Amino acid sequence: MIKLANNNNEKRLKGGLMMLVNQTTIHNKEVFNTLTESLSFCDVHYWRTLQHIKREYLEEYCKNKVVIDLGCGTGEFTFIAAEYAKKVAGIDFAGKMLEKMKKRMQQFEKPNIYLLQADITKLPLKENNFDVIYSYSTLYYIKEIEVLFYEMNRVLKKGGFAIFELGNKFSHNTLLVKKSNLISHHISTSKMLMIIKSTGFKVVEHRAFQICMWNVIPFMGGTLEKKVSKKINEKMIDEIISSLPILRNFAFRHLFVCKKEE
Ligand SMILES: C[S@@+](CC[C@H](N)C(=O)[O-])C[C@H]1O[C@@H](n2cnc3c(N)ncnc32)[C@H](O)[C@@H]1O
Repeated sequence: MIKLANNNNEKRLKGGLMMLVNQTTIHNKEVFNTLTESLSFCDVHYWRTLQHIKREYLEEYCKNKVVIDLGCGTGEFTFIAAEYAKKVAGIDFAGKMLEKMKKRMQQFEKPNIYLLQADITKLPLKENNFDVIYSYSTLYYIKEIEVLFYEMNRVLKKGGFAIFELGNKFSHNTLLVKKSNLISHHISTSKMLMIIKSTGFKVVEHRAFQICMWNVIPFMGGTLEKKVSKKINEKMIDEIISSLPILRNFAFRHLFVCKKEE
């Protein structure tokens, strides 16, 4: 079993960063409950390549470990982590996502997956108990991002790893998501690094992607998305461009592997 917290974890948050359920959380929860179909499986070339990169991290870090998937959705990555991990706790606040996930669990028989419906800024989990936490395509919807980092730190064992993506507020994507139904919270790259450090993590790896939303840039009757998904020396062209000095500060997707300080 996954060890649950036995008393109110709000008390353990540092610096008075207690979370009161806010309007963003309520709004996004409602919207995510309507999105279970469109989020299931993306077949766009760029996303497939990115999924592959994310999968490699799970393979590398989750072997025989006790793992948390923050914002697991319908389980795209939970099932992958469960192939390697001892146990995986999938956590999401959207009941509809978890219902769909449960159906898939019956289909694939994964007894090492445990699902919890909860807000990821208030993890109902015991402290110092997990080896790895990962969160894909989720943290850029979290307003209380610093609270979330303290929570990750609280539940991870010393030396445990956190693998996650954050969204940069100085990016093309930030302009485009203004039209979305979901409320996003993008932050600057310097703030990302500041929060990681101040909440007790050390950066092990930092990669930048998505200097622009390639699927809206027209190119020869299509878009540039397929071209930048190609790899040169094992790296996606998008990542190569997004990692260049200066440009890096404008890339949307920042993928981190961090270690909880010993
Ligand atoms: C874009 S989906 C990503 C799903 C999955 N991680 C993936 O990469 O396919 C974001 C997920 O985060 C969940 N989520 C967003 N904010 C959350 C919060 N505050 N607490 C719990 N889950 C949250 C949503 O319900 C949704 O399932």
